[in-house]
Amino acid sequence: MAVQERQAENGFDRYIAEVRAVWGDGKDPQLPFRVQALMEKLFASTKPDDPWMAEIIRDGKPSRELYRDPDLGFIQMGHVHKQGHGNTPHDHGPCWVVYGGYTGVTEITKYKRTDDGAQPGKCTLEKERLDKLTPGTVVPYLTGDIHSTNAVQGPGVVFRFLSYDLDKIDRSRYNQEKGTVIPVPAR
Ligand SMILES: [Fe+2]
Repeated sequence: MAVQERQAENGFDRYIAEVRAVWGDGKDPQLPFRVQALMEKLFASTKPDDPWMAEIIRDGKPSRELYRDPDLGFIQMGHVHKQGHGNTPHDHGPCWVVYGGYTGVTEITKYKRTDDGAQPGKCTLEKERLDKLTPGTVVPYLTGDIHSTNAVQGPGVVFRFLSYDLDKIDRSRYNQEKGTVIPVPAR
C-alpha cells in the first residue's frame, strides 16, 4: 500500500517509526534481533481485520513492497504465499533479512556450507536448522546465512524485512543437486 493512502497512524506506521528509531547507523549486530522483536510486537497487536492488514489479505498479492525507507534504505515486503510456494537455497549477500509469519505456516531451512570454498562456483550444503514460522513467529537470518522457504500451509501472509534493496547487491543462489553456486548480480 502506498504510504500516502494511509490517513491516521496505524500499527504498521508505528512499527516503521519504531524501526527507524532503533536503526542508528544500521551496523549494530543486534539490529536484526531488534527488528525481530518489533515485528513480533506488530503481529501480536494486529488483527486480521485491521484495515491495513485486511487489505494485504484481501489483495492476496504474492509480493508487494509495503515500505521503502528513503533515508535508511531498508524495505518491508509483504507476501501472500499459496501452499507449496517455495524457493531454492539463497543468501542475501552482505545484507540481512527478517522473515515473519502472520498466517499459515512457512518452513525455512537454514543451511551450512560443508566445502571450504576453494573451488569457484562449487559448493556443498548441509541442512543446519529448520524454522517453522507459525503465526506470530519471526526469525532473523544474518549476513551470509543460506536459506530456503517453503509454504507448508497456506495462504501464508509472510513479512520479509530487507536491510537493503536486494536488487542493488550481489548475492548467490545454490543448486544442491549439482553442487553449484549461481551468482545473482546486482541489477
Ligand atoms: Fe531469503
